[in-house]
Amino acid sequence: SDQPLILGIETSCDETGVGLVRGTTLLANAVASSVDEHVRFGGVVPEVASRAHLEAMVPTLHRALAEAGAGLGDVDAVAVTAGPGLAGALMVGVSAAKALAVALDKPLYGVNHLVGHVAAEQLENGPLAEPVVALLVSGGHTEILLVEDIATSATLLGQTLDDAAGEAFDKVARLIGLKYPGGPNIQRAAADGDPGAIRFPRGLTGQRDLERHRYDFSFSGLKTAVARWVETAEREGRAVPVGDVAAGFQEAVADVLTRKAVLACQERGISTMVLAGGVAANARLRELTRSRCAAAGIELRQPRFSLCTDNGAMIAALGAAVVERDLPPSSLDFASDSSL
Ligand code: KG4
Ligand code: ZN
Repeated sequence: SDQPLILGIETSCDETGVGLVRGTTLLANAVASSVDEHVRFGGVVPEVASRAHLEAMVPTLHRALAEAGAGLGDVDAVAVTAGPGLAGALMVGVSAAKALAVALDKPLYGVNHLVGHVAAEQLENGPLAEPVVALLVSGGHTEILLVEDIATSATLLGQTLDDAAGEAFDKVARLIGLKYPGGPNIQRAAADGDPGAIRFPRGLTGQRDLERHRYDFSFSGLKTAVARWVETAEREGRAVPVGDVAAGFQEAVADVLTRKAVLACQERGISTMVLAGGVAANARLRELTRSRCAAAGIELRQPRFSLCTDNGAMIAALGAAVVERDLPPSSLDFASDSSL
């Protein structure tokens, strides 16, 4: 191919990702996760994540090159997550990317992690026709993004005011005695439960909340409602029906995420939705998003799971879009920005 070879580096949270891409063609996607090291803490520990990135960076880079059958000398540009994310974790990736760009004498592009999640979709189903609305749901973030132009322009329509969706899954799992990461375990438990048995609250969906926080989310009230429900059952000496609680909680999360993302599409006149992030693995969320998009005439696009979770290929994909537009590279002294 005559398209430039883009190397992408991602270290915003607990995954060290290095990917290689030409245009919208995926060549390699190597990921090392430190998730096992965070299990005993019940969530990502920033300092542990930073150290794990340091150790994993070079081996992951070598794995990606081997997967693509390429050498460092073939790389035409380096893209890296500039933010948002954990400050220390981001710095490891940005430092590695700068070192590579200097050593190879190739341009460097600091890009946005959230838009990267959307760019990953292009590696699955080809170029996106912007504008699109993206629903990004992971352990670290939960946003509705309006992407007018993947290389230059994205607007944050709404986000969580407290916990990320994945974080809510993890915390609720703990409340009902399931292990971290909670998402897959809640999904499994919910399969044996009745989603209609217990109705949990849908945060920020009341009339007044919708006026001020139309596309925002809140999961702390939901988490508290589950905690109260479990406490009451225990106080009254009843066994906690783990399946019903898991199913009712999962239904509440999937309902509110899907409802607001579809609303954003309808109100902004957008006909394509992208679903990404680790929580997009959730079967009920996928099902509800699919059916509500179909009912509203919205085309739903979502990449395979390995492109949904944090990875380097998504950053390379966004880098490729930026390079294709001939946008200026980042300067070598650019700083990562945890709240980009
Ligand atoms: O994108 P991701 O791998 O990266 C980080 O945010 O670091 O997302 C991880 C999150 C975790 O909170 C996990 O519980 C959640 O995604 N998750 C799920 C499922 N699989 C993973 N949540 C709900 N249902 C699932 N099947
Ligand atoms: Zn992410």
